[in-house]
Amino acid sequence: MAQLLGSWRRHGSRQGAADLAAGVRLLVLDGRLPAGTGLPPEREVAAALDVSRTMVAAAWERLRADGLVVSRRGAGSWTALPRDTRRGEYDDSLDGLRPVIDLARAVPSSVAGVAEVAEAALPRLATELRGHGYYEQGLPELRERIAARYTERGLPTSADEILVTNGAHHGLALALRLLVGPGDRVLVEQPTYPNAIEAVRAAHALPVPVAMTDDGWDLDAVEATLRQAAPRLAYLIVDFQNPTGHQLTESARARLGAALRRARTPVVVDETQVELDLRAEPVPLPPLGAFAGDLVLATGSAGKSHWGGLRIGWVRASAELVDRLLAARRGLDLGTPVFEQLVLAELLGAPPAPLRERRATLAAQRDVLVDAVRAECPDWSFLVPDGGLSLWCRLPGPVSTRISAVAQNFGVRVVPGSFFAVHGGLERWLRLPYVRPAEELVEAVRRLSQAAASVAETRAPTAGDGLIPVT
Ligand SMILES: Cc1ncc(COP(=O)(O)O)c(C=O)c1O
Repeated sequence: MAQLLGSWRRHGSRQGAADLAAGVRLLVLDGRLPAGTGLPPEREVAAALDVSRTMVAAAWERLRADGLVVSRRGAGSWTALPRDTRRGEYDDSLDGLRPVIDLARAVPSSVAGVAEVAEAALPRLATELRGHGYYEQGLPELRERIAARYTERGLPTSADEILVTNGAHHGLALALRLLVGPGDRVLVEQPTYPNAIEAVRAAHALPVPVAMTDDGWDLDAVEATLRQAAPRLAYLIVDFQNPTGHQLTESARARLGAALRRARTPVVVDETQVELDLRAEPVPLPPLGAFAGDLVLATGSAGKSHWGGLRIGWVRASAELVDRLLAARRGLDLGTPVFEQLVLAELLGAPPAPLRERRATLAAQRDVLVDAVRAECPDWSFLVPDGGLSLWCRLPGPVSTRISAVAQNFGVRVVPGSFFAVHGGLERWLRLPYVRPAEELVEAVRRLSQAAASVAETRAPTAGDGLIPVT
């Protein structure tokens, strides 16, 4: 802990306990000191940091008050995450009046009309109640509708090539369960969706990152990694990548498909953002499955197109792979709730007006965020994405974790660039989703610029500050 803390004392500061508490707070919030880590006795911490035991006790007291340290007599102390951070709730407020603005999640609220569709689905539910309700592969009419959308997008698909899941993330977990064993390598983009990194690790596999460039995918590097690292699986988000917003061009899809076929590497293609093309005239591109055939397991979801709370997603794969996924699923769960499937089947069968409205709202919110960042944080840079849910901002220095930690005090919740990396880093990057209403985005950016200014005022630790040299 002493090493992680580095030079925790602010230059010239006389508030040792406050500085120590702030240092530990940062380590806990950015995950370097994971929640549940046991803390050594105060006198040992005092000796390691060469401070008084009273100072450590005072710092621990502050952390206890913030919910970042829990102590129990006889059992010692350990780190913890405060309840609101852990559950991502945003019912807390900055000063008792202004709510904290949550830009940590890149998830929009529901499209219009879901409640009405749910009500209209009740008679169908009454019919279903007479049966057992276990559709292990998913409700046939929902699978038909999902398959029809793939056919429309240029990849002829039948209902037996669809497995309905409890969200796209469930689909990835099932694919990992089926295709990957302990120690296997899984190629991922860097940056990528943080929960995907978690899922790979939970499968005891090793994520192998391939860096994205400012222009998108470095296919030379992807091809070299497929050859040299021989990954058992790849995980890619080729449509409005989370967090960068890039979309793989049609010719690049053909090249990537050929590379995957040469290496015979199966790939999970995360299509959760594919319906979020924000151009005035959306440019539909053929799914990667059109270029890499049966090697592709596409995961999709109603989470971004309709509502995440439905918790419905799907996998599109060959019928043979779907059967194997089904077999792998039986050790885990036995199907997706029927009512939500009925609702989504209705939503997918209805005219796409709510989705068109969603795209227009997101495009307007993106433009407001772009203008706000350009006005308030002129030294941040980004590409304006054609789709997806966030701006991926390059900061003027390696301060992403510090800004996101300090931003809490200014009433904004953001996640630092390091969350999107396999081994940390990406400290010059910050993801800003545009899923909140315009006025909230403007206020959030105003608060973030204040947080960034306060970070710029405090000197970052340097090697001369007493960090222990490592050779
Ligand atoms: C890229 C990506 N994949 C998967 C998911 C999870 O999807 P679902 O909610 O359908 O499990 C998300 C949600 O934020 C996402 O951004």
